[in-house]
Amino acid sequence: MDAPLEQLRAEAIAAIAAAADEAAVEQARIKYLGQQGALTALSKGMKDVSKEDKPRIGKLLNDVRAAVTAALDERKAALQAGADKAAFAGVDVTLPGTSSGFAGKGTLHPITQLLDRTIAIFRRMGFALADGPDIETEWHCFDALNTPADHPARNEQDTFYLPDGRLLRTHTSTVQIRTMEKAAPPIRIIAPGAAYRRDEIDATHLAQFTQMEGLYVDEGVSVADLKGTLEFFFRELFGGDAKFRFRPHFFPFTEPSYEVDIKTTALGAADRWLEIAGCGIVDPAVFESINGKRGDRAYDPEKYTGFAFGFGLDRLAMIMSDTPDIRYFTNNDQRFLAQF
Ligand code: DAH
Repeated sequence: MDAPLEQLRAEAIAAIAAAADEAAVEQARIKYLGQQGALTALSKGMKDVSKEDKPRIGKLLNDVRAAVTAALDERKAALQAGADKAAFAGVDVTLPGTSSGFAGKGTLHPITQLLDRTIAIFRRMGFALADGPDIETEWHCFDALNTPADHPARNEQDTFYLPDGRLLRTHTSTVQIRTMEKAAPPIRIIAPGAAYRRDEIDATHLAQFTQMEGLYVDEGVSVADLKGTLEFFFRELFGGDAKFRFRPHFFPFTEPSYEVDIKTTALGAADRWLEIAGCGIVDPAVFESINGKRGDRAYDPEKYTGFAFGFGLDRLAMIMSDTPDIRYFTNNDQRFLAQF
């Protein structure tokens, strides 16, 4: 039986190699390995093989089946590769793809871009990033910031309360308190994040917006440091021609307090003052509430002074990009966002 098996192997492999397409390969499979195929016919002769030849012939049968199967697979793969190659003939797949619409490269959200630039500038002045929760206690949001329960400033910053008495923070000034609870002076931090108010939503108000808080506490910190820091920051952001006005104002947690106005050609308003930030010298009452909570005198107002500031990033982004309606920043409209 050896000779017919060897002959079948040679014949099958030659036929498979000559198969011009996948249908021809399939025909060859049926002809040699199929139920009525040549190999099946030959294996029926096994019953006539002598006992001592059986193991050898059995092994040969298996070898031939394996060799023919391998030849079939190989030929099929080669034919498929050839078809793929033909389909790509004349196409340079190394050329850059065509971008259109949503397949194009995205950009960062305008508020995120402004946030990144802001952080980079304050980092150069040695400010570290600090963080705090959006869901706050009344104490961190108001009491510790010298705003007791009956203070009118609480009405101005009305917010969303949880059933357990906690609230969505109305400003990032809470992070001043969170930071000082944990660390002793000197402190030099910025804290960007979400703030919430129960405002009617309109072209200049959202119920959730983005603030940037700053706090600097050390020995001998003065209004001059505050002005120098903020003027440096806004000049880095808007350019050297910016002019500033520190208008006396009131915040419960600073004394004295100011609002900062800016005039700059970069904002297309060289002759118009724009209000951009609140700031001041940390009120000693804030230090005392921290000391009370900490149970020490780490923030002794006789030894340490500090300045704090806060501004709205959405508002700044609106002015910078001449965006007439703050809601554009949250509508996720590609036509608006793709401009940045
Ligand atoms: N928290 C104030 C607000 O949301 C902004 C502010 C004013 C922050 C003065 C300060 C500050 O740190 O010193 O309106």
